[in-house]
Amino acid sequence: TIERRIDALLAKMTLEEKIGQLHLSGRGDGFDINQIKTGQMGAVMNFVVPSEVLEVQKAARATRLKIPLIIGLDAVHGFSTYFPLPLGQASSWNPALIEQAAYWTGREASAAGVNWTFAPMVDMSRDPRWGRVLEGAGEDPYLASVVSAARTQGYQRGGVATTVKHFVGYGAAEAGRDYNSTWIPTSQLFDLHLPPFKAAFDAGSMTAMAAFNALNGMPATAHRAMLTDLLRTKWGFRGFVTSDFGSITELRLHGIAKDDAEAARKALLAGIDMDMMGHVYHQHLAGEVKAGRVPMKALDEAVRRVLRVKFHLGLFERPDVDPAAAPALMQTQEARDVALQGAREGAILLKNANETLPISAAVKSVAVIGAMARPEDERVWTDPAGLGRRVIEALPEALKARLPSDVSVAYEPAFTKACGTEFADKDAAVRAAAASDLVVAMLGEDCEFMGEAASRTRLELPGVQQELLEALVATGKPVVLVLATGRPLVLSWADAHVAAILQTFHGGTEGRTAIADILTGKVNPSGRVPMSFPRSVGQIPVYYNQLPTGRPEKIRQRYESIFMDEQNAALYPFGFGLSYSRFTYANPRVSKPSMGLNGTVEVSVDVTNAGTRDGQEVVQLYIRQPVAGRSRPLRELKGFDKLMLRAGETRRVQFTLKASQLGAHDDEGRYQVDPGEVEIYLGGSSQAVSRTQVLLTKP
Ligand code: IFM
Repeated sequence: TIERRIDALLAKMTLEEKIGQLHLSGRGDGFDINQIKTGQMGAVMNFVVPSEVLEVQKAARATRLKIPLIIGLDAVHGFSTYFPLPLGQASSWNPALIEQAAYWTGREASAAGVNWTFAPMVDMSRDPRWGRVLEGAGEDPYLASVVSAARTQGYQRGGVATTVKHFVGYGAAEAGRDYNSTWIPTSQLFDLHLPPFKAAFDAGSMTAMAAFNALNGMPATAHRAMLTDLLRTKWGFRGFVTSDFGSITELRLHGIAKDDAEAARKALLAGIDMDMMGHVYHQHLAGEVKAGRVPMKALDEAVRRVLRVKFHLGLFERPDVDPAAAPALMQTQEARDVALQGAREGAILLKNANETLPISAAVKSVAVIGAMARPEDERVWTDPAGLGRRVIEALPEALKARLPSDVSVAYEPAFTKACGTEFADKDAAVRAAAASDLVVAMLGEDCEFMGEAASRTRLELPGVQQELLEALVATGKPVVLVLATGRPLVLSWADAHVAAILQTFHGGTEGRTAIADILTGKVNPSGRVPMSFPRSVGQIPVYYNQLPTGRPEKIRQRYESIFMDEQNAALYPFGFGLSYSRFTYANPRVSKPSMGLNGTVEVSVDVTNAGTRDGQEVVQLYIRQPVAGRSRPLRELKGFDKLMLRAGETRRVQFTLKASQLGAHDDEGRYQVDPGEVEIYLGGSSQAVSRTQVLLTKP
C-alpha cells in the first residue's frame, strides 16, 4: 500500500533528502537545478514549457531515490485555453460547466507535465476593493462551496492535484487591502469562511495553501489551531499544506519570529509541510532538527504527507511528458467548446432598457468602441502557458459575422491600451459613435487593475474610460456597455445613463465570441451576480446575507440603520441577472408542514418562461429563520438549479432541504440547528418573493 511504500522511502532518506521534499522552488527566485539532482528539492513551480518540465523531472528521477517532482502552477482559469475568470465561472451558476472548465485546465496542464495547480481559491469575497475577488466565487458560502467542489473534482479528474487556498480568512483583509490582517469571529469563520474549504476537502483536494494574512492576531502560516487542530485532527485531511510565496520568512515581519530559523520551526510545527519560494526550510530545518527544536517525527510527518500526494497522483508511475505530443493537446475543440459555453453562461445582463438588446433589425450601423474589444492578447491575472493563441475572435469581427450583411460595424479603440489609462483618439471614437445607430463600448479593468496586489479604493472605471463613456452617452445614441472586469465596479452612473449593461469577468479565449452571441440574440443571457454590486465605495461591505438590525430601514428616518446619503440596497444584488425571457414563479410548496431537527423536506415551485424566447433560469432557494437562539441572516441561499425553459414552458422545480443545513455556529464554533419556523423564498435572485415555510420541531 501507499503508506508502506512511504515507510520504505522514509527509512532510506537522509535528513537533507527529507527536507528536500519540503522545498518548493522555481522560476524567478534563485532556482538551482543542482538542488534537484542532489535530492534537495522535491517540488518546483512555474515551469510550463514541456521540454523544460521534462528536464527537471528527469533530473529528479535520476536521483538516488528517484522521487519525482511535484510541479506546480497558478492555472487558475485555464492553461492554454482560457476560461472566464473564476468569478465569471461562478456567475454561470452551472457547476457541471465549471467542473469541465477545471477538467480541461487540468488536462492541458498535465499534458505539459504540470501536476499541481494553485487553485481553487475559495476565499469569501465581500469586499470588491480587494483585487483577488476575481479568483473566488463571490460572497455566498453555499454557492462558493458548490463551485469549490466542482473545481476540485474537475482539476483532479484532469490530472492535477488541487490546492484549495488561502487557508484561512484571506478574503476578509481589512479595507480590502491585500495581505492585510483579518478579524473574524469564530461563528463567522465557521458559517462563512470555512465551508468552501470543507467542500474542497470533501471533494478530495490533495493539498491546501496557507494564507498570507494574520487571522485574529496569528499569522495563518503559523496558525496551529487552524492548520493542525481543525484541518488534520478534526477534519481528517491527509494531504499536504504549502505556504504561500515566501510567507514563512514573512513570519519575521509579522513579528512572531526573530529570524528565519525560528520562522521555519514555527511554520513546520504549526502544520506547514512545504515552503514555497522561501528557502528557509532548505536553509534552516536541518539545524533545527539537529538542535532538537524540531522533532524528527514532525519532519517525517510532513514528508509523509508530501509523498502521499505524489503516490496518490501516480507520479511514480506516470510516464514523462512528451514535448512533441503536448501542443496537439492544447486548445482542442472540446476545450474551446467548454470555454465558449462558460463565457456565454457567465455573462450577466445587468440592465436592458427598452429591450435595447438583442440588437434589433432596425439597427443598421454599430460602433464598437474600446481597445478591450480587440486586444492583442487575453492577458488576465496569470499568464501561465504561452501555448497557442489566446483570443480567438475580436468583438467587432465577431459582431460583423453575426449581424445581417447590410449592418455596418465600425471599430475605434479610443485608448492606447485595453486598460484605458490613456486616449489614443477620443474624438474619433465619439465621431464613430455619433455616426452609428448603436454604440457598443467594451470597457473595464485590465490585468494591472485586478488580481493579487491590485486593491483599489475607487471602484469606477479605471483611467479615462468614464470620461469616454460620458462622451459616448452625450452623442444621444443608445450605448450598450460591455464590461470585462475582475470585480464588481461601482456602476451607479452607468446604470442611470446607458441603455444596457452586460457584465463579464473576462470571458477568456472565447469571451468576445460569447459577447457577440449574446448581443445579437443567438444566446439568451443567463449569468447571475455572485457578488453584490455596490452603489458607492462607502457602502462596502454590501452583501445580501446580512443579519437583521434592531433598527431596520423602514421609512428612511433618523435612528434607522441607514446612510444619510446612500441607499442600503446593492445596485445589483446577489443572484440577480436579466434574460431576454421573463420568468414567473407560482405555487411554492413544502411536502410537509414540519420536520424534526434531523428531517428532510421537499420544496417545490412552478417556474414559467413567460417570455417569447427559450432561456435559462437560475431558480434559487433562500431561507430565513426569523426567531432562533442567535440572530440569523435575513436571507441564506440553500439551493439552486439552472434550467432551460422553452418559451411558454412551465416546469415544477424541486429541492430537498435538510434540517441539518439550517443551523449556525456559535462563538465556540459549535453547530446548532434551532427549532422554529423557517421561511423559504424561491425566485430568480436574493430578492425572491415566492414564499412558503416549514416548522422545525424538536423530536
Ligand atoms: O498561488 C499564488 C498565491 O495565491 C499568491 N502568491 C503566489 C502564489 C504562487 O504564484
